[in-house]
Amino acid sequence: MNHVLHQHPFTPYDQIPVADFSSFRALPMPDAMLPAEMTNEFRHRVGTRPLDNAHWLTNDAETEPTIEMKRELLRTRRSEVVGLLEGGEDAADEAAQLVANFAGKKLQSTGISALVEAALMVADDLVVMNSVVVAGVVCSPSRWRLSTKLGQDMLAVHRPVAKYAEQVGGAVDTTMARLKADQPLIRANWTIEDHCALFQPVGPTEPLVSEPSQLWVRMERQTLRALPHCGGSMFTIRTYQQPITEYVARGADKARTLHSLIKRLPDDVAKYKSLLHYRESLLVWLESFC
Ligand code: HEM
Repeated sequence: MNHVLHQHPFTPYDQIPVADFSSFRALPMPDAMLPAEMTNEFRHRVGTRPLDNAHWLTNDAETEPTIEMKRELLRTRRSEVVGLLEGGEDAADEAAQLVANFAGKKLQSTGISALVEAALMVADDLVVMNSVVVAGVVCSPSRWRLSTKLGQDMLAVHRPVAKYAEQVGGAVDTTMARLKADQPLIRANWTIEDHCALFQPVGPTEPLVSEPSQLWVRMERQTLRALPHCGGSMFTIRTYQQPITEYVARGADKARTLHSLIKRLPDDVAKYKSLLHYRESLLVWLESFC
């Protein structure tokens, strides 16, 4: 078991926090990203919406600590957070330029170094595609490794995701093929995890906590946009987490939606989300907040 149980999202999953973080409180995730109940049956959804260019990437109270965490990961475990496929330099460069323009900053380098520079201007993780994943700087992976995704198309990237291929595989490919320059899209993903570390490239081999109240809600604000010069695309991921106790304290409607979403997860999807073990006790616990 590599996970070290702690409560500090900016400390890697396998390290003991060095600083005193007793005053840390997770930023409540933006309301617009919270999971919503769409239908009574489980279904993965593409769920992309157009996003105003001016609001492409977000800047908030967790931006600086996230960038600090990235800086440290790039210094100490660069091979785990940076990836480049041969031939991906131009696409990485174009993606980096877009981020730098958005941040109002100038890049000093080119290619993958420029993507690393750009990754330190924003809190978001950056993944670059040209039919397949060609480059990335990913410091907040939710139990996956960038190195295993290089060279893969969308279907292959999502192979571990139960019900992805049959429910959204085709629709995602269509969405990616139709991306336009200057019209980013936004979508969100949610899960429940028993460890809060943003940098968490693997899952634990056994459950980490004994009480549902020790779990965390983890949300990803994702954006997609075209890279018009190289013909590729760019995927950004901004990860938020909040203790589940604080999340349900936001209102009975939040607890009810979570309860209903978790209840209807097919076993294979719950297993993929590492939720199967906690599901029954979590549902009982959530009922008292509904
Ligand atoms: C409209 C586009 C997309 C949709 C609908 C989508 C959907 C999903 C879903 C449902 C999951 C499972 C999350 C969970 O249940 O916790 C997932 C995981 C993932 N997605 Fe996507 N995705 C999209 C685009 C992308 C893109 C562009 C990338 C770029 C590489 C990507 C990379 C991943 C990765 C790496 C995972 C984790 C896979 C693993 O566990 O190994 N996704 N995605």
